[in-house]
Amino acid sequence: MSKQTKNISRTTTTQIGSRKGGEPIVSLTSYHAHTAAIVDKYADFILVGDSLGMVMHGMDSTVGVPLDLMIMHGKAVVRGTEQALIVVDMPFGSYEESPNVAFRNAAKIMKETGCGAIKIEGGARMAETIRFLVERGIPVMAHIGLTPQSSNVMGGFKTQGRDKETWPTHIADAQAVSEAGAFAVVLEGMVEPLAAKITKEITIPTIGIGASATCDGQILVLEDMLGMNPWTPKFVRVYGQLGPMIEDAVQRYANDVKLRSFPNSDETYS
Ligand code: KIV
Repeated sequence: MSKQTKNISRTTTTQIGSRKGGEPIVSLTSYHAHTAAIVDKYADFILVGDSLGMVMHGMDSTVGVPLDLMIMHGKAVVRGTEQALIVVDMPFGSYEESPNVAFRNAAKIMKETGCGAIKIEGGARMAETIRFLVERGIPVMAHIGLTPQSSNVMGGFKTQGRDKETWPTHIADAQAVSEAGAFAVVLEGMVEPLAAKITKEITIPTIGIGASATCDGQILVLEDMLGMNPWTPKFVRVYGQLGPMIEDAVQRYANDVKLRSFPNSDETYS
C-alpha cells in the first residue's frame, strides 16, 4: 500500500510483544509534546496515562477524567514523537459498559490521536472486551493489580498480593487478558513474588509499576521520577529534582522583575 505521509516508523505492538523475556521494555508516561519529544529518544512506548487528571489537572483521582481530555493530550504526545509506540489510556466510564461502547470510544481515540494502542484496566472481567477490540483492529494493553479507576471499590490505593489467598485471582486475571489477545499487561502495585510468578506464567510482557524488577519492563509517571511532586511513593526512584529547580528559577525571575534587573539592555529592543 502506498503512503502519502512523512515516513515515521514507530515501535509496533508486535515488537513490544516479542520482547517477552528479552531486553527490558522501557516506558514512561507523558502528557505533552515537549516532554514526549525527550522521552521518545529512550522509551519503547509512551503512555498517555489517565494519571494526567491528577498530575496535570489537580484532580483527586483518575475517576473524573473525561475522554476528550485523553484525546487532547494524546494528540500532543503523538505530534511530539516519531519513534515510540504511543498508548492512550481509556478513561473510567468509556469502556466498561459493553464491548460495543469500548470499541466506539477506542476507535475515536485511535482516529483522533493517531496513537498505536489503547490501555484498559481490569482482568478477567474485561477479557471479552479485549478480545472484541483486538479482533476489530484495536491493540490493547491490559492493566491489573492495583487499578486506580476502581480505587473506590478497592478501598483506596493498596498494594496487591500481600495476602497469598488473593494470588489465584490475580493470576487468573493475567491469564485471561493474555488469552484474550492483549499485547502486554501493566502490573501495578504488586508484591514481588506474585509479579514474578505472573511474569513467568504468561506469554505476553508484563510492565511493572511498583511491581519489582522481575517484570519484562518498567513504567513510571514522568513527573514522579523528575521530582515534581512533593510526595512520591516508595517504588519511585527520583532521577531529577525539577520541582525545586522550577521554584528556584521562578523565585529568581520574580526578584529580578521587582528589582527591574530583568530585562537588561541585551534583552531589550533598542
Ligand atoms: O495513568 C497512568 O499513569 C498509568 C500508569 C500508572 C501505568 O496507568
